[in-house]
Amino acid sequence: MAVAEPAAFQLATPTRVYDNVRMISEQLRSCKINSLPERYIWPKERVENLKPGNHETIAKEKEELQNLSIPVVDLAGLENRSEEVRAKIAREMRKACEEWGFFQVINTAVPTMVMEQVNANAREFFSLPVEQMEKATEPPGKPLQGYGGRHNFLNSEVPWIEFLGEHHAPVPGVEDLAKKVWEDGNPKFCKAITDYSNSVEQLGVLILELLAESLDLPKDTYSQHMQTGHHGYWRFNYYPACAKASQTIGIGPHCDPDALTILSQDQIPGLQVQKANKWVTVEPLPGAFVVNVGDYLQAWSNDIFKSVEHRVLVNEETDRLSIAFFMSPPRMFNIEAHPKLIGENEESVFKTFTSREYLGLLLNNKSNGDVGKRGLDYMRRETTVA
Ligand code: OGA
Ligand code: NI
Repeated sequence: MAVAEPAAFQLATPTRVYDNVRMISEQLRSCKINSLPERYIWPKERVENLKPGNHETIAKEKEELQNLSIPVVDLAGLENRSEEVRAKIAREMRKACEEWGFFQVINTAVPTMVMEQVNANAREFFSLPVEQMEKATEPPGKPLQGYGGRHNFLNSEVPWIEFLGEHHAPVPGVEDLAKKVWEDGNPKFCKAITDYSNSVEQLGVLILELLAESLDLPKDTYSQHMQTGHHGYWRFNYYPACAKASQTIGIGPHCDPDALTILSQDQIPGLQVQKANKWVTVEPLPGAFVVNVGDYLQAWSNDIFKSVEHRVLVNEETDRLSIAFFMSPPRMFNIEAHPKLIGENEESVFKTFTSREYLGLLLNNKSNGDVGKRGLDYMRRETTVA
């Protein structure tokens, strides 16, 4: 009698084997293959200065940049409810958003427990067998909703990443997502993500209030559009170890198409930010969140805050996990700078646009680096680009 093949073996057809970064990671580690499939190898000019991040390289970079590093803003002082301290924190954030587009926050109100839970559940997800994770594969027409790790075979310059993402707002998608992966819908997983999303969203609202105050605008100028009908989207980014780390990249250079991104990274360096034509590594700080200005906030602040290009390197020996939360106003909301930010007899730097229009533009390929232009450049008033 023929014995049924074990499921894992049936999956090991050539296309599937080479179709998922996790599998390739394991095959490289165990020397079943000794070179990276070509589509994961990025051309030199796209990944110049690519080197696996470690504490030594961070120290060297700091020296090169005369000890310049991504600003760290300590929120501890907010507890005293002193207006002076609040204004000082707001000024620090403003400066960071003008000069770097990035900062780290420490001593936030996000409970440690919430972060421990979401991290543990994310790690648990990425330790599932590939075929179980793939039950949550992004549905057609809904990119970035669900699991991604099996990349389009035809693309070159494929990023070395597995991710899981879903909306938190306007409609939370985590329960439907979890039902695809686990028969019982894994309530513990759903709770961890919901608690995390709620806490981080609150942190985002606070940061947007402080940023509005720093511009002498009403406190709720930005945050009022993050309360209902707005978009909140979480994503776990998982970068398996890659024995050929210096040939590939976790996420290529990009700017975030949102208003504000809040990210927690584990203790493995990887995220790098453009500053003075150099890539600066964001040093992992325990308990910190990395905050960055997205394209919408750059336009919304009339070009005062900058949405800055960043990328993610992968590590030769260690996997890396980051958990991101992306915040945007409602899809049909008109993003336009407050009149107070526009000089007399001047126009705003950017045209008025909605995030729906903007995402349409990015999907049409006029985006992040593809033609050497950023998405936001198409929204500048003087632009002549078709
Ligand atoms: C992103 C991003 C950085 C990281 O998800 O847009 O830039 O460290 N992630 O994973
Ligand atoms: Ni990003």
